[in-house]
Amino acid sequence: MIDLRSDTVTKPSEQMRKAMYNAEVGDDVFKEDPTINALEKYAAELLGKESALFVTSGVMGNQLCLNVLTSPGDEVICEKDAHIFNYESSAPSMLSGIQLYPVSGKYGVITAEQVEEAIRPKSAYYMPRTKVIEVENTHNRASGAIHPIENIAELKKVAEKNNLYFHLDGARIWNASVKTGISVSKYASYFDTISCCLSKGLGAPVGSLIAGNKDFISEAYRVRKAWGGGMRQSGILAAAGLYALQNNIERLSEDHEKAEVIAKALSTCENVRVDLDSVQTNIIIFEVLTTTVEEAQIICKEKGLLVSIGNKKCLRAVTHLDVSFEQIDEVVKILKEVFNG
Ligand SMILES: Cc1ncc(COP(=O)(O)O)c(C=O)c1O
Repeated sequence: MIDLRSDTVTKPSEQMRKAMYNAEVGDDVFKEDPTINALEKYAAELLGKESALFVTSGVMGNQLCLNVLTSPGDEVICEKDAHIFNYESSAPSMLSGIQLYPVSGKYGVITAEQVEEAIRPKSAYYMPRTKVIEVENTHNRASGAIHPIENIAELKKVAEKNNLYFHLDGARIWNASVKTGISVSKYASYFDTISCCLSKGLGAPVGSLIAGNKDFISEAYRVRKAWGGGMRQSGILAAAGLYALQNNIERLSEDHEKAEVIAKALSTCENVRVDLDSVQTNIIIFEVLTTTVEEAQIICKEKGLLVSIGNKKCLRAVTHLDVSFEQIDEVVKILKEVFNG
């Protein structure tokens, strides 16, 4: 079975497992785990921020950032397909007592003008208080599209002018960086806080990181503990993360190549529609024209291909380090058979 449901389905490689096995550990709640400390230092340097913190997941990373940046009753402006708005179980309201203001944007990109319009007037005490602008790069629901850096710079200006924080959901910021050649630290330099993942595309079994200035990270450290995220000898996991950052970023270009091959094959199929411009990194979202997505998913599975459901009309395939170029040839064959290519 070829599993393209997500880039989270990867299994730790032999070398990664060795690094985990050999990891020196200590009690991280006492800040005594050398491998966690090494990972956090390495990540802070890579992202060009004062400090970083290892957290259990991308959701925890985003939500910790939003919690520390806001007070109950505040509002966060994001794009309507943003992960924080669609896939984080209403955590902003559950955990922080805040709400989101979703703005619609092509390929997940919201403009400075749209954000200016969404900012609540300070004089209107009866309205929510805008506190944060959030951007997702690459954008999961927009087929892994990259947020153009020029637009990020414009949004940063709006944030500064209006005294707002700027948060990056950079779960797949590595993909954006590899594709554009813009360093992750350059991307991160525009943002006050960043969340990024080790377990999507980079092949680690678990874990994400957040980064920002020292005061922000020490407050996030406190909240992480309150949310039950204080882990003990978690250096075993950090070793996998460190291995992933040191070995598995550059190779993401292969995943992008594979996604392009799949997208191009789909564009020749009669029974699906794919927007080739949206497929910029490792995610392909394509519309099924003749059956329900559930039916199409089952037929793919019967032929040996697992894909996920992107939305009511679309299927989603994601390339990753556990799928070879030979398997991509097989994927193309299956998709052509199923969708009349
Ligand atoms: C853009 C984005 N942000 C955050 C997350 C959440 O990560 P996790 O599943 O580790 O909580 C995901 C997961 O796919 C994601 O795609």
